[in-house]
Amino acid sequence: MGTPDLRVQVAGLTLQNPIIAASGTCGYGEELHPFVDINGLGAVVVKGLSLKPTRGNPGPRLAETTAGMLNSVGLHNIGIEAFLTDKLPRLRRYSTHVVVNFFGDAPAEYAAVAERASDVEGIAALEANISCPNVQHGGMLFSCDPRLTFQVVEHVRRVTSLPLLVKLSPNVTDIAAIARAAEEAGADAISLINTVMGMAIDLQTRTTRLPLGFGGLSGPAIKPLALRMVWQVAQAVHIPVIGLGGIMTGEDALEFLVAGATACQVGTASFVDPAACRTILTEMTHYLQRHHIATVAELCGTLRFQHSKD
Ligand code: FUM
Repeated sequence: MGTPDLRVQVAGLTLQNPIIAASGTCGYGEELHPFVDINGLGAVVVKGLSLKPTRGNPGPRLAETTAGMLNSVGLHNIGIEAFLTDKLPRLRRYSTHVVVNFFGDAPAEYAAVAERASDVEGIAALEANISCPNVQHGGMLFSCDPRLTFQVVEHVRRVTSLPLLVKLSPNVTDIAAIARAAEEAGADAISLINTVMGMAIDLQTRTTRLPLGFGGLSGPAIKPLALRMVWQVAQAVHIPVIGLGGIMTGEDALEFLVAGATACQVGTASFVDPAACRTILTEMTHYLQRHHIATVAELCGTLRFQHSKD
């Protein structure tokens, strides 16, 4: 069989394939360049940007755990202005879609960053991060309550006509209600899941392995949770879902598509192997060829429930 068609449509954009480098795991995009052909990716999501530079949390910021990793970066970033001046001009040399992940500590601040990013050439879409577990204000606060989710997304929607992705937290009871609130407020797609709040302990010293105690758990440990939430949200909204959470292989990515995602983000896998996005794409292609599937899009949302064996 020839090369399968990997194109997918998300929020008005045609991605040449469904593999997107996740925010916070590829710097401002170009850092991937020595390892992966950036032009070969569906999109790149840059580290979350705020109106002003943010120093982030004290180190250590990472702790490896069984089948995963905890992070407590604290949204460290150079700020939207420095990104537009110093980073975006270099990113414009690539043909892949650049998605700007952004955040604020209030709806008006989210809107201010979104408005600034909407003025310039070379940004294909925005991803509002309302789900960071590592800061006190902003972050996850918004995505734990449907009314606050609606409020922040509505503020952003008013100031931008760029495709708007909203990244949700798994640290909630009713993920479908939060996703519906984002959709009603004008989101064009939902990205989920962000990290799961966790903790790691050093038994020798009886101290937490991250200075702030908690961190965001990512990696294979959270994949079943992510798959469940992607499936639930895909049932609940009419906009595309972008799945992430523990995708390490091409088959992992395809499972997310079957569960209802239209595209996938790869994050922690790039910490294990900076070329992970490329490998995952190759593995996806081989799977489709082996199974004589001509277009990846035909797999999306095809999940069936297994019949009871009784
Ligand atoms: O701490 C951080 O910068 C993590 C961000 C996130 O998980 O959204």
